[in-house]
Amino acid sequence: MMNILAICGSLRPESSNMTILKAVPQWLPTKIQYHIYDHIGKLPHFDPTLNHEDTPTEVNRFRQLVADADGIIICSPEYAFGIPGSLKNALDWTVSSGEFNDKPVAVITASSSGEKAHEALLTVVNVITGHVPASSALLIPYIRTKVANGTITDEETIVKLQAVIVSLLHHMAA
Ligand SMILES: Cc1cc2nc3c(=O)[nH]c(=O)nc-3n(C[C@H](O)[C@H](O)[C@H](O)COP(=O)(O)O)c2cc1C
Repeated sequence: MMNILAICGSLRPESSNMTILKAVPQWLPTKIQYHIYDHIGKLPHFDPTLNHEDTPTEVNRFRQLVADADGIIICSPEYAFGIPGSLKNALDWTVSSGEFNDKPVAVITASSSGEKAHEALLTVVNVITGHVPASSALLIPYIRTKVANGTITDEETIVKLQAVIVSLLHHMAA
């Protein structure tokens, strides 16, 4: 059975990015397992000296979840024109261990504007050699006008997200 790991760049309880990630399973075939990693806030700060020895337990767990996934979805806001620190920190833990290597990754940036973080996220995923198919990258600006009470209210956004998932599934199967 194939599985997708989703990573949210926002720690906010009412997060619009988490709303998006929670909507994803309804668009997945039942044979695909789906897990949202909700512990990026629990990962310690990246420390290269702990990369291979005395690696913290939560880092090992995160790395294993990424390694075991057939596809990844990253969904994140932009903070101060950049990637949220907690998400960047999580990705940094995989730079030298290589769990993203050749893995299909959907990159969704849902933010007020989000252009810079989207660009930066694509660059980082590229550096860690994740594979982002062109149709699996989506920038959703004005996100707060497109979600309400834990649901996506904007039809166009739903259609675009469905296309991202179809593309990811296609590349997972390839
Ligand atoms: C400290 C802070 C900085 C922000 N900086 C940006 C920014 O640079 N660009 C942007 O598009 N949105 C920015 N925002 C707005 C977020 O995009 C918005 O709050 C978004 O809904 C957060 O995602 P979430 O709903 O998943 O938590 C910022 C928000 C906060 C709290």
